[in-house]
Amino acid sequence: MSTRQIPSQEARALAPGSDHYTAYVGPPQDYDFMGATQFRLLTTLGLRDHHRLLDFGCGSLRAGRLLIPYLNPGNYYGIEPNRWLIDDAIEREVGADQIRIKRPQFLHHDTFNCGAFGVPFDYIVAQSIFSHCGADLIARGTKQFAVNLKPHGIAAVTFIHPDTGQDPEPGQGWVYPEVVTHSVEDVAELIRAAGLHGISIPWHHPRQTWWILSQDPSRLPGPDQLNLLRGADLTDPATVERP
Ligand SMILES: C[S@@+](CC[C@H](N)C(=O)[O-])C[C@H]1O[C@@H](n2cnc3c(N)ncnc32)[C@H](O)[C@@H]1O
Repeated sequence: MSTRQIPSQEARALAPGSDHYTAYVGPPQDYDFMGATQFRLLTTLGLRDHHRLLDFGCGSLRAGRLLIPYLNPGNYYGIEPNRWLIDDAIEREVGADQIRIKRPQFLHHDTFNCGAFGVPFDYIVAQSIFSHCGADLIARGTKQFAVNLKPHGIAAVTFIHPDTGQDPEPGQGWVYPEVVTHSVEDVAELIRAAGLHGISIPWHHPRQTWWILSQDPSRLPGPDQLNLLRGADLTDPATVERP
């Protein structure tokens, strides 16, 4: 029987990748946290309401349900091949009124083409996308980001690097819900080959590493901003209580 319709509280027991909008995209008990941390990172990096943002692989709007109300009408764009994730998020989290008022735009393809909206982006976020991609798809994605970012735009993306002493397991194509790992050196080379500059940042992620990419190296966080990012830890147990 499908678990798609069960209450979100019950869905917390499901394994990542399961058939529920809070579980398909990762550990269901992290649904709120993984949205909050993306929203906080992007606004710390300078995202404001007049910017145009692409949420690449937006899934069930974990970040989108915070970004859509924040951005000016028409400024949120999402690409997500699994349309049901967006449908369920609109029905159970975002609401039709918000869609009518803020006019987010969605495409449902898996080609990595970010140009079909016909607009360049100030920000792109791709959370837990390249952690499921072989080098072939990362090359395709980063090249698309380079072409579809404004000259001073930035992309925030995540990778998984192997632990010290372990070999990378880069996989091929799309790997899901399992993950792939890429060495820091291979990631840096893929970013360079796409015509981008990139830096990993110390923004907390429970399982992955955030990188910031831009055509413009002066848009990458400098030492002061890196310190700010390092200090902002949303997981402080003193402030987080779970039911
Ligand atoms: C781990 S989830 C992350 C979702 C979202 N970024 C978040 O943080 O909640 C990975 C998402 O990538 C989507 N996906 C799969 N293939 C894709 C492709 N070729 N292009 C864009 N998204 C894709 C999946 O359907 C899934 O929603």
